[in-house]
Amino acid sequence: MKILVINGPNLNLLGIREPAIYGTATYGQLVAQVVAHGQKLGQTVEVVQSNHEGVLVDTIQQAYGRYDALVLNAAAYTHTSIAILDALRAVGLPTVEVHLSAPSEREPYRHISYVREYTPVCFCGKGIQSYLDALDYLANTQGDLL
Ligand code: DQA
Repeated sequence: MKILVINGPNLNLLGIREPAIYGTATYGQLVAQVVAHGQKLGQTVEVVQSNHEGVLVDTIQQAYGRYDALVLNAAAYTHTSIAILDALRAVGLPTVEVHLSAPSEREPYRHISYVREYTPVCFCGKGIQSYLDALDYLANTQGDLL
């Protein structure tokens, strides 16, 4: 499978950003671990990050026809972005939601996930392992999520 991992705002600051919540691994380490895990599973994994909602929408649109599945940590846009939800619905790619932390156990404004309206599957609260679990899940289901 060819999988695109999409990361939203502020995830580029991993390692610096609120380490008590997000851990001390850097964004570069996250990317390296995710790509290496995909290789072990026989997947081709690419990882991108943007702080901009429109760029994330463009990235989801451009994934159509090029990738078999998405792993998406929309970060704060998870809780606000109908545009990202609409882009996911428009392209129809199998998508697994991931989070480093467990948003449902944090502030009430993090309890809503618009992404979850589209994807039935979310791995969260396990740091980088959440991403690795998402790749395992895609390997096991071959993207047949429903
Ligand atoms: C996050 C959780 C979001 O609520 C937050 O806005 C983030 C990171 C996570 O991975 O735990 O930026 O998506």
